[in-house]
Amino acid sequence: MSGDTKRLRAVVKGVGSALPNRCVTNKELEETVDTSDEWIVQRTGIRQRYIAGEGETTSTLGIRAAQAALDRAGLTPDDIDLIVCATSTPDYTFPSTATMIQAGLGCTHGVAFDVQAVCAGFVFAVSTAEKFLVSGSHKRALVIGAETFSRILDWQDRTTCVLFGDGAGAMVLEAEEQSVAAAGGNLPRGVLATCLRSDGRHRAKLYVDGGPSTTKTVGFLRMEGKEVFRFAVGQVTDVMAETFASAGITAEDLDWFVPHQANRRIIDASAQKFGIPTEKVVLTVQDHGNTSAASIPLALSVACGDGRIKPGDLVMIEAIGGGFTWGAAVLRW
Ligand code: UT7
Repeated sequence: MSGDTKRLRAVVKGVGSALPNRCVTNKELEETVDTSDEWIVQRTGIRQRYIAGEGETTSTLGIRAAQAALDRAGLTPDDIDLIVCATSTPDYTFPSTATMIQAGLGCTHGVAFDVQAVCAGFVFAVSTAEKFLVSGSHKRALVIGAETFSRILDWQDRTTCVLFGDGAGAMVLEAEEQSVAAAGGNLPRGVLATCLRSDGRHRAKLYVDGGPSTTKTVGFLRMEGKEVFRFAVGQVTDVMAETFASAGITAEDLDWFVPHQANRRIIDASAQKFGIPTEKVVLTVQDHGNTSAASIPLALSVACGDGRIKPGDLVMIEAIGGGFTWGAAVLRW
């Protein structure tokens, strides 16, 4: 292959995030449900989470996160022609949260739509946007993970209500032509590989017991925590292995591992399986709880904001969610 062969890649231009105003500690939850700070910290690593108040919705959080990502990228809404929003807690059944964010940003062109893969949603959204960008059909994408899981929690159910929180994160991806050969030490940047999976047989292990076409209600989140835990630790590594193989790298090459933030024990076990040292793992579950599709972009925003993730760094994101759905992606910043 000649040295000047080019291809399009989806390159990260900026990330941003938004949290609701109200922070709720484990201690506060002790007052309303039969739980303890000690149990929550020991079993999950969570110390606090943010809960949306009146006027704060998935789209308002998404708009704030998207605007922050655009600011970091030095871009305006006019520069965006694709918005993909991952959420399982849309403001309304329809229209999509993505179109509400589009309108909120004042963006009147391009295309906006939602992706629904629960906690794996952001990885699915990145993979979807990447395919649009490398096809040449679109130039710049806002990829958003935004959730208000507090609105679908049964606040009497201690086995679920202590685990989740609300928030949003966003990433700007831009189609950029790059040499296929890493000429002169210029390593390819952007999304290098993604791998997505789903297996609908596991529906009953993590689901919402309502919906427009069944109960005509929104419903509440229900989870067999142990089963989800077992699957997350046992199975999710298949997509990580496949992503490493198609990117042509190994776990040792990674600068940062940014997994879905559901439970510290799941994160530790996944990292250990690939020999990824703790110092390379970005951990935010203690501050945000499980924010579903928002957890990875929130964590990326924290690690970019504090200077850990730098241009040139190799980053893996990985998540599992209801369905089950699961996936991983490797990106060079
Ligand atoms: O984003 C993807 C979706 N979610 C996940 O990835 C979550 C995956 N699962 C988990 O993280 C864990 O399974 C949990 C954190 C949900 C639970 O941890 P566990 O170590 O699997 O605990 P358990 O469900 O086996 O419960 C142990 C005990 C039970 O009491 P008994 O039966 O031993 O007397 C529970 O009733 O802990 C009790 N328990 C609690 N105690 C205090 C359950 N929830 C609570 C609570 N506070 N909030």
